[in-house]
Amino acid sequence: MARRDQLKLGFILHGVGPGWADWRHPDAQIDASTNWSFYKHQAQVAEAGKFDFLFVADSLFITADSSPHYLNRFEPLTILSALAGATSRIGLVATVTATYTEPFNLARQFSSLDHISGGRAGWNVVTSWLDGTAANFSKTKHLEHDVRYRLAGEHLDVVQGLWDSWEDGALIADKETGVFVDPDRLHALNHRGEFFQVQGPLNIKRSPQGQPVIFQAGASEDGKAFASGRADAIFIHFDEPGAAVAYRTDLRARAAARGRDPDEVLILPGVRPVIGATEAEAEARYLELAGLTSIENALSALGRPFNDHDFRVYDLDAPFPQEVAEHGANSNQSAAERVLKLARDQGLTLRETAQRFATPRSHFVGTPIQVADALQHWFEAGAADGYILFESLPGQLETFVETVVPILQQRGVYRRDYEGTTLREHLGLPFPENRYTAARTLLAAE
Ligand SMILES: Cc1cc2nc3c(=O)[nH]c(=O)nc-3n(C[C@H](O)[C@H](O)[C@H](O)COP(=O)(O)O)c2cc1C
Repeated sequence: MARRDQLKLGFILHGVGPGWADWRHPDAQIDASTNWSFYKHQAQVAEAGKFDFLFVADSLFITADSSPHYLNRFEPLTILSALAGATSRIGLVATVTATYTEPFNLARQFSSLDHISGGRAGWNVVTSWLDGTAANFSKTKHLEHDVRYRLAGEHLDVVQGLWDSWEDGALIADKETGVFVDPDRLHALNHRGEFFQVQGPLNIKRSPQGQPVIFQAGASEDGKAFASGRADAIFIHFDEPGAAVAYRTDLRARAAARGRDPDEVLILPGVRPVIGATEAEAEARYLELAGLTSIENALSALGRPFNDHDFRVYDLDAPFPQEVAEHGANSNQSAAERVLKLARDQGLTLRETAQRFATPRSHFVGTPIQVADALQHWFEAGAADGYILFESLPGQLETFVETVVPILQQRGVYRRDYEGTTLREHLGLPFPENRYTAARTLLAAE
């Protein structure tokens, strides 16, 4: 079982980069977001660094102003299925929206990935925050924020119910008797709910992890309720360790109140380290990265949590236009609120807000020792159980694995090798017993 005194690491496969201008760096590979060799190389580097998992983010609506990686990228389950064959231990976490998928298809896809990879699949449950997505899925209206979370809860009920369709021993396949399946151990779900009616059973046997691992990134009230009640691991964005400690403490308390073991809910803030051989070199690299982003790029980035709102219509040097709050409420609510609060508290103009949002100067800029110190400090201060790592500049994943990982390993806060083979084992999560087997055992004991 994985150790709780060691931090967890995920790596986000983000092709050409999360920013609007990352592709303009002289060393950036322009076609990285749709380049199989690029993904394979990064996956293998992360696995050599003993990362817990690879993560692929996703969304389903673009405009010409979307960032280069969002405009042109692989579908998550497809690329992770390919990577399952190019790696052997690292977990494979795909983002799929509950709002625009059928739970039956989704349960089947993740179960297949879990089988193909020998128990390394995870699902990042998102609800989609851009209302244009509706038009790509034959819908006239995007659901409201709270309804999307309610639907996600029911969607997850169905998916997890379907993943238990087959009890161990249901697949008999006895050539002598000709009996293939034990009908008493194959279960229909018969779900009848507000959003879904799904009979089951699922047409694939239970996968190696029993239930693939659930990831989520709720930060609004609805989001936190969902994440603390349902997720095994939670992504979050934080600029300051104090706020991260408060969030983690709150989420653990909420999980405990729901009857869960808080140690089985891992909080993983996103970090984007910029590493240099010296402090000055790291700082220069950060400035190089920030310098690629034009004010137009920064305005596009800022628009995203506000439902791709067009900020070009406002005076750049006037106070931040707080009236845009209405565009954030049904979109990425928590990120929009964070922007509004930052601008209000610090009296920022639109230009300053956009620059801070698009190219933040984080605590993770420095030498390998300084970056390792910050990661260890946040972990030991109770701000994080580990991190989801974004690459800052081309080659920084390799630099991290070659220089920061050995320091963390020497200090005993990060694994030297994988202890198990499944993502659950890497994350120290228990194997969930099949619900029908558990009920049968309970009945027999009475
Ligand atoms: C590290 C990280 C990765 C995320 N990846 C995705 C993603 O791939 N797709 C997506 O739609 N949302 C993604 N989100 C956003 C969350 O799903 C969620 O919309 C956001 O945290 C706002 O939560 P709220 O709706 O509770 O305010 C991510 C958030 C974080 C912190």
